[in-house]
Amino acid sequence: EGWELRLHERVDSTNAEALRSLSGGTQSPVVVLAESQTAGRGRRGRDWVSPFAENLYYSLVFRLENGAAQLEGLSLVVGLAVLQSLRELGVSSAGLKWPNDILVNGKKIAGILLELTGDPADVCHVVVGIGINANMRATDEAIDQPWTSVALELGALCDRTALVTVLNRRLGECLRLHREKGFSALRAEWEANHLWQGCSAVLTSGAQCIEGRVLGIDNQGALRLETNDGERHYSGGELSLRLR
Ligand code: BTN
Repeated sequence: EGWELRLHERVDSTNAEALRSLSGGTQSPVVVLAESQTAGRGRRGRDWVSPFAENLYYSLVFRLENGAAQLEGLSLVVGLAVLQSLRELGVSSAGLKWPNDILVNGKKIAGILLELTGDPADVCHVVVGIGINANMRATDEAIDQPWTSVALELGALCDRTALVTVLNRRLGECLRLHREKGFSALRAEWEANHLWQGCSAVLTSGAQCIEGRVLGIDNQGALRLETNDGERHYSGGELSLRLR
């Protein structure tokens, strides 16, 4: 797709660096990669542990040509591209957890953080931040959830250059399909890889908890939950799902 790649030894966060790159007036998509992050960002205000040269810290920034409409299901599409990439490298048992976690046997192997800038009704850019645990086998820093890495799953070192190459291609393909056909074109593949399809789960949003059975996702990428009050659809970056 003609993306410009910028490799850094050390940044605060590749998402932050990608956002700053916009002030240079970049028009074409830019990929920011770093060997380490000093302030890696996770979802819901959490830190992302980012040891030097072990994992993949990747941020793609591009302009949303269709504004807010193009955001529908975007983070799920990115999750699918990451999943395809991991499968291609041999991590066959990886699956998706709504909205955009990638898990192997209940352990997190990759995470995604989207950040928006500008006016969704006018000129607007999105940063797609992807963290993939590639060669991490142990860490001094506490990680508040079960995790694994490509190296741990394969029992062999992961070639991070190969990972970036595959990811660029899969992401390019998924984003093009999403842009041209919309999220509905990718919905079936996403659902087929959803680990919690049909499971009883609890959705939390701040202090609120909603219980229900996971029916799947809709054409906008919202979670479909069968609750005591019938079928309800949920979307939004602050939501999180766990098994009941
Ligand atoms: C999550 O909490 O699951 C999302 C984690 C996203 C981490 C990646 S690493 C590259 C990019 N830069 C950041 O600061 N965060 C994302």
